[in-house]
Amino acid sequence: MKKLFLIPLMLLATLAFAASCNEDEHITDGEGQIIPEENEAEDDMDGTKGRYLVLYCTRTGNTERMAQTIQSTLDCDMIIVEPETPYENDYNAMLDRAQAELDAIEQGNYPAITTSVESFDEYDIVFIGYPIWYSHIATPMQTFLHNHADLLAGKRIALFASSGSSGIGTSERDAATLVPDAVFEESLLLTSGTLGSMDTRIPAWLEEIGANREDNQENANESLDVNIIMANQTITATLEDNSAARDFFSRLPLEVTLEDYNNGTEKIFYPDPELNLDDTPRGCAPTAGDITIYEPWGNVAIFCRDWSESNSLIKIGHIDGNGIEALSVAGDVQVIFERQQ
Ligand SMILES: Cc1cc2nc3c(=O)[nH]c(=O)nc-3n(C[C@H](O)[C@H](O)[C@H](O)COP(=O)(O)O)c2cc1C
Repeated sequence: MKKLFLIPLMLLATLAFAASCNEDEHITDGEGQIIPEENEAEDDMDGTKGRYLVLYCTRTGNTERMAQTIQSTLDCDMIIVEPETPYENDYNAMLDRAQAELDAIEQGNYPAITTSVESFDEYDIVFIGYPIWYSHIATPMQTFLHNHADLLAGKRIALFASSGSSGIGTSERDAATLVPDAVFEESLLLTSGTLGSMDTRIPAWLEEIGANREDNQENANESLDVNIIMANQTITATLEDNSAARDFFSRLPLEVTLEDYNNGTEKIFYPDPELNLDDTPRGCAPTAGDITIYEPWGNVAIFCRDWSESNSLIKIGHIDGNGIEALSVAGDVQVIFERQQ
C-alpha cells in the first residue's frame, strides 16, 4: 500500500496554516482539501495520489496559485513548505529579513522550516515552487532542498517560480547546487506580467515535460511489474513493495550492462545514485531469479542460482517463471528495465 510519509511537525504546521487562512485561500482541488484532515493524518498517511508531488512556498499567494493550478491539473499530492518564523507583513522588514537569510545561507546557515518529507520514492516528478527573492530561490525552499538533498538524488525535479520581473536562471543554479544529483526538467517562470495567463501556460508546460493526469491516476494503484528487455528476448519480473524497489521502479526505463559476477552466480550493476534503502527489510537467502541489493557495495545483484543467506542482501524483486534462464548466459548482458504497461 502506498504511503505519503510526513513528520508530525509538518502536519501540525500545515493544519495550523490551513486553519489560519480564509476559506478561499485553502489548498483545495475543488473536491476538498489536499492536505489530509487531522484524524486522517493521525490514523495513517495513506494519502499518496500517484506519481507527482507539488511542493511550494509562498508569501503573498502567487506561487501558491501556480501550485494549485499544477495540483488540480494533475490531481496529485501537494505540500506547503513553511518557515518556522512566520513571514513579516511589513514589506521592508521582509526584504531585510530575506537578505539576511540569503547572506546566512551563503555561510551555510539555513533558516529553520517546519516542513519535512520522509520519502519521495512514490514520485516520478517532484514539482518545486518558490517566489524569486533577490534573484534567488526564496529561503524556506532553499532550506527544504538543502535538508532533502539526499532523498531527492536521482529524482526528476520540475522548478516553477513567480517573480516581479526577474528571470529564473540564478534560482535554477541555486537548485542545481542544493540538489546536485537531481535531474532537472524545463522550468517555468511566471512574472507579474504573465501570472494572469497561468491557466494556459501551466497546462502547456506540463505537457511539454510529459506530466499528465492520466499517468498520475494510472500509476496510483499500479503494481510493480517490470519487463527486462534483452537483445532477442523479453522476460518479466515482479518487484517487492519496499522503498528500494519503489525507488528502482521510479527510475525506469533504465538501460544497463549486467556484469557477470562470481562465475555466473550473479548479474550485477551499480545504480547511480544508490537506491534508497530506508524502510527496506534486510536479509535474504537468494534463490535463482531473486533481484537483490548488496548493501555494502550498493549494487543490484540478480541471482542466476541459489546462494547462501546474507544479512547484507536486500530483496527487491524476483524474475517471473523461468526467465532467469535467459539471463544465465556467459559474460555481460545488455538489458533495458521498463515498467509493464
Ligand atoms: C524578499 C523579496 C525579494 C524579492 N526579490 C525579487 C527579485 O529579485 N526579482 C523580482 O522580480 N521580484 C522579486 N520579489 C517579488 C516576488 O518574487 C514576487 O512578488 C512573487 O510573485 C511573490 O510570490 P509569492 O506571492 O508566492 O510570495 C521579491 C519579493 C520579496 C518579498
